[in-house]
Amino acid sequence: MIRKILVTSALPYANGAIHLGHLVEYIQTDIWTRFQKMRGHECWYVCADDTHGTPIMLRAEKEGITPEALIARVHAEHSRDFAGFHVAFDNYHTTHSDETRHYSEDIYAKLKAAGLIEVRSIEQYYDPVKNMFLPDRFIKGECPKCGAKDQYGDACESCGAAYAPTELKNPYSAVSGAQPVLKSSDHYFFKLSDPRCQEFLRRATREVCKAQPEAINKLQEWLGEPGENKLTDWDISRDAPYFGFEIPGAPGKFFYVWLDAPIGYMGSFKNFCGKKGLDFDEFWGKESKAELYHFIGKDILYFHALFWPAELEHAGYRIPSSVFAHGFLTVDGAKMSKSRGTFITAESYLTQGLNPEWLRYYFAAKLNGTMEDIDLNLDDFTQRVNSDLVGKYINIASRAAGFIAKRFDGKLLHDHLGERFHAELPGIKQAAEEIAGYYEGRDTARALRRVMALADQINQYVDRNQPWVLAKQEGQEARLHEVCTLLINAFRLLTIYLKPVLPKLAQRAEEFLNVAPLHWADAGHLLPPAHLINTYEHLMQRIDPKQIEALIAANRESLEPTATPAAATAVAPAPTIEPHSPQRHAQHQQATEDKAQGQAVPAIQHISIDDFAKVDLRIARIADAQHVEGADKLIRLTLDLGAGGTRNVFAGIKSAYDPALLVGRLTVMVANLAPRKMKFGMSEGMVLAASDDKAPGLFLLSPDSGAQPGMKVK
Ligand code: 2FM
Ligand code: ZN
Repeated sequence: MIRKILVTSALPYANGAIHLGHLVEYIQTDIWTRFQKMRGHECWYVCADDTHGTPIMLRAEKEGITPEALIARVHAEHSRDFAGFHVAFDNYHTTHSDETRHYSEDIYAKLKAAGLIEVRSIEQYYDPVKNMFLPDRFIKGECPKCGAKDQYGDACESCGAAYAPTELKNPYSAVSGAQPVLKSSDHYFFKLSDPRCQEFLRRATREVCKAQPEAINKLQEWLGEPGENKLTDWDISRDAPYFGFEIPGAPGKFFYVWLDAPIGYMGSFKNFCGKKGLDFDEFWGKESKAELYHFIGKDILYFHALFWPAELEHAGYRIPSSVFAHGFLTVDGAKMSKSRGTFITAESYLTQGLNPEWLRYYFAAKLNGTMEDIDLNLDDFTQRVNSDLVGKYINIASRAAGFIAKRFDGKLLHDHLGERFHAELPGIKQAAEEIAGYYEGRDTARALRRVMALADQINQYVDRNQPWVLAKQEGQEARLHEVCTLLINAFRLLTIYLKPVLPKLAQRAEEFLNVAPLHWADAGHLLPPAHLINTYEHLMQRIDPKQIEALIAANRESLEPTATPAAATAVAPAPTIEPHSPQRHAQHQQATEDKAQGQAVPAIQHISIDDFAKVDLRIARIADAQHVEGADKLIRLTLDLGAGGTRNVFAGIKSAYDPALLVGRLTVMVANLAPRKMKFGMSEGMVLAASDDKAPGLFLLSPDSGAQPGMKVK
């Protein structure tokens, strides 16, 4: 039976870079959907950027761009990073879309009609300078319990206490620095405490979480004992100014980002239906027979197992078949840390030249379908990828391919080998369904253990049969041909079993095997007699431990201050979330040990166009670039300004650039900066580079082609 399956991963916020912590989820989901597609099911994988909320609004303001421009840029960055890791969404949309607006309004109207929306006035901190209500994360002050300074409005990172923002001592707005005042305003609530919601959630969400007993326990805790009413109503509105969708009939009130985020799953799928001619209701309608799965981190289980099904149910849509929650990522047994260089972005991993399939394999080897945290142990990573993928799997092809090419013109034996294959390599073909069962249950760790056990068995077969000895013995030609043919067939079967995890490697293996893209059902037969294979080219490099050292160093170095007379720094990072629950808060801390994402945006100081015009920005050609003896961070640049002559500038960009590679390129400099005497000589200006203490890297600006040295930038 062909199943209809719709799969989602959590929507990443549109103001932060994708990092390895995110990738655990996207890789896990991608493997699962690729597996379902290989099984021949109609399986669609959709996602989108989560674009609304105060942090995104303030971030855009700080950058001097519109929120629309910010989310468009981040959409391109996220799409690039996902493609880099072979995460193959069928659709990657945005929540700032007509479709998501439509379903947000529709669900809201239906909940309202069902009597499940209530308006209540609440009192909240308000920034009298910025004229806005402040989310908890934007209020800081002294912890009411331990007195630690500069703590957020919801919890203390020093003593761990949770409290209301009004309990903070000496509170201040992290946006403007002003003292916030309490102000009342009407808010819209989804009545989760309504008996209909309580009853529904007790019945249905256990079903939704059935795949994971740990999740059921959490739900039990949230719902309380039967008869207990532990759920409180959910505040789904925010006051202007807010980047989001205005609530129909409620001017100045907007849907809270967490209201429209999961609706973004529907929005993305609807958008996809438009492109593909699919029937939306077949997947989301009340009577849908399709399967719907949300892959999420355990920190957002609350939203997906309580709020979301309750909204869907009472708005007349189907509820998810299941949510699949995973744990957090640690690196070398600890939280990801910028100071240790283990807060690694997807982009830095790829730009350091590491193979994305190494990480896919390693994560898959650790993921078992539970909510346990997984650890990326960097030594184990190197060792396991090298030993499993290169030493075991690829080794099989490389040991057999040469003989087939040299001795048999690339042709496999012309006999049917079905029975011989079973006799000599028992169980390899029969393992297909067992391995499929592990993939289906998201226990990729077990699937890969099984595949590697098969690889061991095949390698032992090679050692026993010693093709290199057969090749030298008279009269063993036919046996050599047979052994190598069996091995190529075994390699092909392992390729099928590994393909959901290693799609690009499998593609190269398919080219070598000279076969059409492999499906799971292809494990039911062997290659045809006398099949011609292509010349073997090495399929995967080993990880050199130096590459890991360089990755860590690149991520660590990027944190060192780059501000020198020659380096401009990019905007301060904005917080990415408005935490809702303690779980959310805990996750937030784990992902951002260094609080980079938790920092509030400093108040904006506007300048006039005349102020801006005082800065003489010019295109400069880097005529020469040299290391500066005794300086850790500096490179000496000789900048050619055309008719404006040359300048000597010391730039703090050594962590990111090799001087030799800079010579000849164009960049942008501040040409009228007062010359400054430095230890190493006079610096006569500065070049512009972007950096961010949240993401690694330092990036010199370059003009589009056609710009000439000396041109003014304005
Ligand atoms: O936690 C997060 O990163 C959210 N942006 C996830 C949203 S998932 C879904 F509900 F949209
Ligand atoms: Zn405290």
